[in-house]
Amino acid sequence: MEFLKAVIKGKNVYASQDTFVSRNPAALDEELGTFANATKEDCREACRVAKQGFAKWKNTPSPVRGEIIANLGKLIAKNKEALSRVLSKEMGKPYREALGDVQEAIDTCHFFLSEGRRLYGQTVPSEMPNKELFTYRRPVGVFAFITAGNFPFAVPSWYFVPALLCGNTCVWKPSEDTPMLSKLMVDLIHASGVPKDVFQVVFGQGPKTGADLVSLVDEGLIDKVGFTGSTAVGRTIGEICGRNLQVPCLELGGKNPMVITPSADVSLALHGAFWSGFGTGGQRCTSLGNLIVHESHYDNFVAQLKTKIDAMQFGNPFKKEHLYGPLISERILNSHLSHLEKLVTSKHKLLSSLNGKVTKSNKPAWFENDPEKGYFAFPSVVTGVTAQDEIYATETFGPLFNVLKYKTIEEAIELSNGTGFGLSSSIYTQDAKEAYVFKSEISAGMTSINNSTSGAEAHLPFGGNGKSGNGSRQSGIWVLDTFTRWQSVNWDLSGKLQLAQMETNYIEPTDLVVDVSFLKN
Ligand code: UN1
Repeated sequence: MEFLKAVIKGKNVYASQDTFVSRNPAALDEELGTFANATKEDCREACRVAKQGFAKWKNTPSPVRGEIIANLGKLIAKNKEALSRVLSKEMGKPYREALGDVQEAIDTCHFFLSEGRRLYGQTVPSEMPNKELFTYRRPVGVFAFITAGNFPFAVPSWYFVPALLCGNTCVWKPSEDTPMLSKLMVDLIHASGVPKDVFQVVFGQGPKTGADLVSLVDEGLIDKVGFTGSTAVGRTIGEICGRNLQVPCLELGGKNPMVITPSADVSLALHGAFWSGFGTGGQRCTSLGNLIVHESHYDNFVAQLKTKIDAMQFGNPFKKEHLYGPLISERILNSHLSHLEKLVTSKHKLLSSLNGKVTKSNKPAWFENDPEKGYFAFPSVVTGVTAQDEIYATETFGPLFNVLKYKTIEEAIELSNGTGFGLSSSIYTQDAKEAYVFKSEISAGMTSINNSTSGAEAHLPFGGNGKSGNGSRQSGIWVLDTFTRWQSVNWDLSGKLQLAQMETNYIEPTDLVVDVSFLKN
């Protein structure tokens, strides 16, 4: 049997070995497809083709590229429900959220389609006569990007939509957790009018195919890398790119804080904390990590959290009442279990008596799925956490968050910034001064006031500080700086060699001290 391992120049490339299976994480018997790991040579070929495609694509007028992005937005919208069903089944997020994931890609197309008609440069005055200066945005070249399974539709689109619009060509290594959805995406991209040699995909497992692809930066086959995933892998990619004098776009982990101040609307804050912590099973890089509650609310807040956890249902992505589905993969389930085992110590308290894996013997009456045939985990809230604990500064990426207590707003800000991450943050307050201090002092790419830590919109800059990234920002107009390089052009029409600075005709002032003797006093 032959299994898909890449799409290069629009042709499916197959292999019979080194395969991996995409399964529904809520019903492991249900297979969505079998794929094979692309080899390093496949990655090379994909990059070579992208390099060839670049020559023509960069000279395709950007309004024409923008119209292709418009086509893509329309095609995705037309297929929104079908894509969302596959998305929910392949990675397990609730269908309502899957629709949002797909919608975010549509929004991204809508935003960038008319950027093709802008992509402005400037005309700049020269200090010499008969000389014109201009700036132009030029595409970077071959863009290789590696994405995660938690936002399998939205996050790739944040990369390739602006990258293509700006005239770059792409090689994509999608998550091994969502190859089927990614194949559908590639088909839509080609159907929208993106030329076959402009967009390639290599399937495979991260540590192998992802590493093979990025290693080609050293071979000069890639001009820019994008990566969404763990801080550890991001560091390695940063090193490879750095030694080649490239700046990658790195979107890494988070340990996102939420502060509940004395003036907070407690029921709103509870709702926000719950969604931030457990929406998508806590598997967003923007998910809540540390809930930092003022001492005046602490006991009451924790008690209400417990009531909410005890009443909450999860497991079936297609049931509205279920806040989250299964975890995406066995790897994420195992890492969640190991966090519970190693990072929750005797000084901590878990709010609920049920934590960790759902099994035949501990499954609640409302639990509908077969726990043996999926990656299901209970929601966990860890109380009694302080800044000295390992769990305080470790990204847990799963249905788990910490609760910490604070006295002063300065202390809350210190606890918020102290993890070294800086992706998202949130504060619940009715006090404008407190909101002002928080948004000024927090080091995070995103800050919510009276809203959840997650929920970025497609036209706002997205990215993190510290361990959450390398300062790059995706989305909106800001990402244009990621996918283009500025070129300045000076055009001399004087017919002679004019030397700026040396021959500039600056005017010297005549000396003058103003006479104000007419003032009476
Ligand atoms: C991610 O988890 O990598 O703000 C992206 C949010 C989403 C994007 C998350 N719109 O939670």
